[in-house]
Amino acid sequence: MEDWSARQYLKFEDERTRPPRDLVAQVPLQRPRRIVDLGCGPGNSTELLVERFPQSEVVGLDSSPDMLRKARERLPKCAFIEAEIATWRPEPGTDLIFGNAVMQWLPDHPAIMRRLLEALPQGGVLAIQMPDNTREPALRFQREVGESGPWKDHPEVKAAPRDDLPSTEEYYDLLKPACSRIDIWHTVYNHVMPSPAAITEWFKGSSLQPFLSPLDTAAREKFLTAYTEKVVGAYKPRFDGKVLLRFPRLFILAVR
Ligand SMILES: C[S@@+](CC[C@H](N)C(=O)[O-])C[C@H]1O[C@@H](n2cnc3c(N)ncnc32)[C@H](O)[C@@H]1O
Repeated sequence: MEDWSARQYLKFEDERTRPPRDLVAQVPLQRPRRIVDLGCGPGNSTELLVERFPQSEVVGLDSSPDMLRKARERLPKCAFIEAEIATWRPEPGTDLIFGNAVMQWLPDHPAIMRRLLEALPQGGVLAIQMPDNTREPALRFQREVGESGPWKDHPEVKAAPRDDLPSTEEYYDLLKPACSRIDIWHTVYNHVMPSPAAITEWFKGSSLQPFLSPLDTAAREKFLTAYTEKVVGAYKPRFDGKVLLRFPRLFILAVR
């Protein structure tokens, strides 16, 4: 996947930071020794961890140099490492592994979550949030445009759509044998967006990236125009001209 753009991602920083804030609030730890923020992005989720646990060592991990650059500017006192989650292992002393809006990008993430949970000491916490929005119109339109334009046979575009998440029951059956307590819940956010075009801007910073990054500039523009047309048709303005972006998210908090 092409390097993520921190600038595009941060256009909706307040909205994107609400789920990690809700997740951090549920972590049942007083003073974890070491915390790792997987897929830390530009450091917005890392900052929440530093605020909640000022006495802990907080480390951000990401595979994108652009994101890490932004994160280091934001939190110069934190350590940030460039690494791939699929092969990463926590160091001893890691009491909290936090992953907000990242695990959905790893196709075999349930097995990775189980492995990470098993690597935690007793009482350690794995806290994960993932968008559970693949059936929402905004994501369906990405697949539809991907399958219908001149790019439809491009292998990267074909591989771009994210699979639906496994069911809540599958996560439970996989993770519960390795933990003393598990809490799984959904929250549906309704983000107030200034216009349908803002929905396109939102997803340009996340799930549209894999569709767009293999294309040249002209094809990108074409893709985005076709996508925005569909969004305009489905997300109708409210009385004040704004549109609501319905956004279901899955939270998993597992205590070793
Ligand atoms: C949607 S952003 C989430 C940023 C932040 N955690 C937040 O709460 O807003 C996802 C981040 O995960 C990173 N990422 C995606 N796949 C990854 C992988 N396999 N290993 C490491 N980082 C990854 C991306 O570079 C991106 O910065």
